[in-house]
Amino acid sequence: MSTRDTFYITTPIYYVNDVPHIGHAYTTVAADVLSRYWRLRGRDVFFLTGLDEHGQKVQQAAAKAGIEPQAHCDRLAPQFTNLWDRLNISHNAFIRTSDKPHQSVVQRYLQQLFDKQLIYKADYTGWYCTYDERFWTEKDVVGGLCPDCKRPIEQLSEHNYFFKMGQYQERLIEHIRQHQDFIRPDSRRNEVLGFLQTQKLGDLSISRPKSRLSWGIELPFDKDYVTYVWFDALVNYISALEYLPQGQPAGLRYWPADVHLVGKDILTTHAVYWSTMLMALEQPLPKTIFAHGWWTVDGEKMSKSRGNVVDPNRMVDQFGTDAFRYFLLREVPFGQDGDFSHSALVTTVNAKLANGIGNLLSRTLTMIERSCAGVIPERGPAVLPELEHRIEELAKQLPGRTESGFDALLFRDVLLTIEELNGLCDEYIDKSAPWKLAKQPEAQPQLHTVLNTSARALRLLALLLYPFMPNAAAQMIQQLGLSLDLSRPLAADAGHWNAPLAGSTIQKGASLFPRIESKPQGAKSVSETPASPQPTAAAPAASPSPAPATTAAPAPATTQPAQITIDDFMKVQLKAAKVLAAERVPKSEKLLKLQVSLGTEQRQIVAGIGKKYEPEALVGKTIVIVANLKPAKLMGIESQGMVLAAGDSEVRGLATFVEDVEPGTKVK
Ligand code: MSP
Repeated sequence: MSTRDTFYITTPIYYVNDVPHIGHAYTTVAADVLSRYWRLRGRDVFFLTGLDEHGQKVQQAAAKAGIEPQAHCDRLAPQFTNLWDRLNISHNAFIRTSDKPHQSVVQRYLQQLFDKQLIYKADYTGWYCTYDERFWTEKDVVGGLCPDCKRPIEQLSEHNYFFKMGQYQERLIEHIRQHQDFIRPDSRRNEVLGFLQTQKLGDLSISRPKSRLSWGIELPFDKDYVTYVWFDALVNYISALEYLPQGQPAGLRYWPADVHLVGKDILTTHAVYWSTMLMALEQPLPKTIFAHGWWTVDGEKMSKSRGNVVDPNRMVDQFGTDAFRYFLLREVPFGQDGDFSHSALVTTVNAKLANGIGNLLSRTLTMIERSCAGVIPERGPAVLPELEHRIEELAKQLPGRTESGFDALLFRDVLLTIEELNGLCDEYIDKSAPWKLAKQPEAQPQLHTVLNTSARALRLLALLLYPFMPNAAAQMIQQLGLSLDLSRPLAADAGHWNAPLAGSTIQKGASLFPRIESKPQGAKSVSETPASPQPTAAAPAASPSPAPATTAAPAPATTQPAQITIDDFMKVQLKAAKVLAAERVPKSEKLLKLQVSLGTEQRQIVAGIGKKYEPEALVGKTIVIVANLKPAKLMGIESQGMVLAAGDSEVRGLATFVEDVEPGTKVK
């Protein structure tokens, strides 16, 4: 944990006239997850979000609606505040740039800079984009179009006020060089450094003549101008601290911010404009500006004109708040671009939540209810010592691994580690078969070990999952019959594997994550479909179904598979194959590239089992492959066969053998 006990995190302030979409939800949920984690760890968190309300677009929209801009903003603001309620966002403050105290701070800062002669008036002629409300230089403009929004732009000449941003260029480069964490991820840091080292940083126009725009903060030293929206908006991160922390002494005790979360498109305004403004105002710079990636939708850019804007409200309606939050941070490594698809969301909810955590909770509690009168039993003797040891080891490492994950904003990694514990527990229950132990009176102590171990893991999982899924975590704690208030800092030993648990009376409740039935046809999306589908092997009804990445679209649930003759079946050549090496296919969550031995020959097989298995776990295993399948390419990689696995929309288990079988042996 960092040495300061405060943690100040911000989201961008969103344009009030935007319709909230998945991008807004993404940043805000990420900020919420971090806030909840650090609060749980006892830090004094200040989480700020809000709205950017000034500017030409708002003025125009208000004029169109025939109302004052302020009334227009007041009408639109609830779109965001309501969504944050629905997404269970625990911000400490909500700023609106039309707030009077914010306006006063902006004016005070402008006056300070003006008095220090860091703001000057000059003529400016340039290419102006009305839509983006910004000037472009000659070399940026191609074919009379704005390089950003591609709309026509016009040449404009006017007096304006400029902030002497250019003079901070060297200091900023030095700051970025010396503070590895200042801009993250590293790729973005290098981009900003590259830009600063190769281009001359100009001064920043921070005013707009009222003749052109009146909806803004008036310059304190010239009533004919309002403040440029970005100068006004960026100041929110500090002005909020002066008037919004409730019950706190006023002042800047949270400053500098620990993390400004922003999308990649607004990194320059933060890393360059805001940093140099702070230098001029003699304020410390934020510790980290983290730029996350953008979501596309089914592989396409999200836009109103395409009609593919993902409405977070609909996602909450369909999947629930917790599941949507989980998906947002599980699907893509934070910092990289990601693709949203309805089917990817369904797959995650089903595989990770319904079949994962939800199933572990429900099967554990059902057995405790049936076999132990609803009371979590004490541990008995070891049942599967090796697995129990692995579970305990992982559980002990988890709080530390989680903390490093949160320090680095690696949300996905944190979730994968959590899933690893979930997976180990599933394996443990499958192998120890407590339902069989329950039928043997002499095996009660063993049964107790299994149920106690599983309940302990669930308790830990609830604590770890809380920042991501606050409601589900609270329900898990409640169903386990524990009294832990997750909205308060946890005691230092709360995350310990051996924290007391036995004796608690469970309260089994409704299933946490009901399985979502996906549409059987027409619901496929990029993430569900292999890069180039392979033909499906005909398999007998009783055999395990092939792994999804190598199957064609499933038939509708109501259709019975056509019957085949024994001759048909005999055309399929199944063989035992030993996995010699396995690795992930880059950029694919599902695909693994396997090198397998068939005794006399070696094959390469690409299989869609990467969500279920880590590649290392497969090396040395003897599996079943379809050996006479026509080779096909999956994401450009040749696959010479197909592995057999159980499962429908997701892999449940690989087909393998009870005995040691020589690679290459025929399977019938
Ligand atoms: N008002 C400015 C920010 C001022 S902060 C002092 C602004 N607002 S915005 O509403 O247009 O965008 C807010 C955020 O949404 C940005 O961080 C942007 O990156 C993010 N996103 C917009 N579309 C997005 C996706 N398709 N995917 C992920 N985030 C995206 O900019």
